[in-house]
Amino acid sequence: MSGLQHFGWFLARGFGPHGWGHPYLDWNYRWTGPRLYQESARALEQAGFDLLIIEDAPSLGSADTIDLRVRHAFGGPKHDPLMLAPYLFDATEHLGVVPTVNPAAYLPYTAARQFASLQHLSGDRLGLNVVTDTGSARHFGTAPPLGHDAAYDRAEEWLGGIRSLWRSWDEGALVRDIDSGRYADGTRMRQTARRGEYFSFDGPLNAIPFEEGEPVIVSPGGSGRGLGFAGANSDVQLALAPLDEASIRAYRAAVHDAARARGRAETDVSVLFAIQPTLVSSPEEADRLVAASRTPDDETLRTIARRQSSDLETDLTSLDLDAPLPRGIFAEHVSHGSIRRLVGDHDPSTPLRTVLAAHARLGRLSDGSGFVGTAAELADRIEQLGDWDNDGVLLWGDLHPVTVHRMLDDLVPILRRRGVLRDSYAGGGLRANLRSF
Ligand SMILES: Cc1cc2nc3c(=O)[nH]c(=O)nc-3n(C[C@H](O)[C@H](O)[C@H](O)COP(=O)(O)O)c2cc1C
Repeated sequence: MSGLQHFGWFLARGFGPHGWGHPYLDWNYRWTGPRLYQESARALEQAGFDLLIIEDAPSLGSADTIDLRVRHAFGGPKHDPLMLAPYLFDATEHLGVVPTVNPAAYLPYTAARQFASLQHLSGDRLGLNVVTDTGSARHFGTAPPLGHDAAYDRAEEWLGGIRSLWRSWDEGALVRDIDSGRYADGTRMRQTARRGEYFSFDGPLNAIPFEEGEPVIVSPGGSGRGLGFAGANSDVQLALAPLDEASIRAYRAAVHDAARARGRAETDVSVLFAIQPTLVSSPEEADRLVAASRTPDDETLRTIARRQSSDLETDLTSLDLDAPLPRGIFAEHVSHGSIRRLVGDHDPSTPLRTVLAAHARLGRLSDGSGFVGTAAELADRIEQLGDWDNDGVLLWGDLHPVTVHRMLDDLVPILRRRGVLRDSYAGGGLRANLRSF
């Protein structure tokens, strides 16, 4: 069996103020310009990565908690990743670029046209990370927001509509016969007419057919309905990496079951597990870092509180660290899953300090308790994921060259030597690379 795995980079916190809050901000890179990202995209391509996924959320969330989102630039501002993609394609030759898109933000005809154009312009390297965040509904004239499952229903209808438009051209419709002077045969174009629950529109689409297949569809939703979406539609499913073999295998089996349930083969969906490692230069340094994380200082706890406040749109920063987290502080729209992730197994009388300290706690790559370690230890862990039949890994971070080089410089040569990371591309774009092993 091939030991190769697919590698991606997840540009977390999106196309926003990178470096904010870090010393490397003083490098004076402009996050609003393309050069920072182009430089890092080239580094990822040289390293043999298949794809770069760019996080996004089109909204700053609920109107009365905007300050929590922008105060430390955790939730915004940000630009639209779809607009960054052409600059990254222009700077690279093989790397797939996957902006995050929300079906609420684009009418299917507009989306089909823009994505088709980018697929052609990029040499078949476009992917789309389809998310169903409903908090942005008020910006798009679709308030009140849809419920969780209905947003997935809308996403399926949207994608189905886009695909029907991409398939507007029947076999033989594109003639391109210089002798007869005939470019196309309009009688062979499909008269798409969609009348759906969420979208109604007519085709056909005025873009030519794809040569190497449609843009790659990526999805990150892990609920039952999210996995149903992935099973029916996705080429790549993302998940945060659990630490143990049983969880990895169970997640993969759930994705494969979902694919089969929707009439597809399990090999049609690759699963990439996202990892955010902290790489250090020696096992001793890793041990020191992990030991220190057991007793976080107040400043560390406050930083965690700020990030959680942004993510949960709830102000935790002014709460007493030594009192329990007040029940009922969260507004109705805050995701229950996110609250559960914050609180963990702690009972309601637990002081906030203890709840937050659990989020500061680090573990070692070497014993499977976490993600701190040396590049060699990370390579061991990735190789182990391969032994558990994993398809690939998504490394998680910003795209500042400091972050990218810290992650790749020692890791890439080790993975290459072990035959885990490709040393050449298949050619033919993102889909071809994903299907090449
Ligand atoms: C690796 C990963 C990346 C994600 N990226 C985004 C993103 O860019 N934008 C977004 O709105 N949600 C993102 N999500 C969240 C999911 O889209 C989804 O909202 C969340 O998992 C809840 O959906 P679910 O109930 O189906 O799990 C991401 C999740 C994961 C695990």
